Amino acid sequence: MKRAYAAVLDGLERILQSDVENEDKLQVCCEFLRDRVPGCDWVGFYRLDPEDEGYLVLGPFVGEPTEHTRIPVGIGVCGQAAGRSETVVVDDVTEEENYLACSAAVRSEIVVPIFSGDRVVAELDIDSHQAATFTAEERELLEAVAERVAELF
Ligand code: SME
Repeated sequence: MKRAYAAVLDGLERILQSDVENEDKLQVCCEFLRDRVPGCDWVGFYRLDPEDEGYLVLGPFVGEPTEHTRIPVGIGVCGQAAGRSETVVVDDVTEEENYLACSAAVRSEIVVPIFSGDRVVAELDIDSHQAATFTAEERELLEAVAERVAELF
């Protein structure tokens, strides 16, 4: 992992160890990733709805407000990642048919599932205004982030 990203994981550890509520830690994580990972314009978490696990519900985020606050599993990039229990990277959202647009400015997206054991409980979703922002290096970093923040869900 490149040095700047190893430093991001160190910074994340400090956030996780801070003396604030979990929801506030997640909010700080969103701001931290937006500020430290180039090309991240919208960063947020979705949770599986504990009342109805067929839906994802928007949690803490930074960036423009989105109309997609409740997403059925299987629908959009977020729903695909939850349905398949795996990371989904879209280099150019204009080429993706199963996509829910939040803002016309978005060009690429990554959604990383967050697990409790082998069950998806939440996701980290990041949008970029540039195409192909999320390379193998960003994916490796963000999957490591998702593993570490799992304790907050
Ligand atoms: N683009 C997502 C919807 C959520 S927004 O990016 C915040 C999707 O296709 O699921």
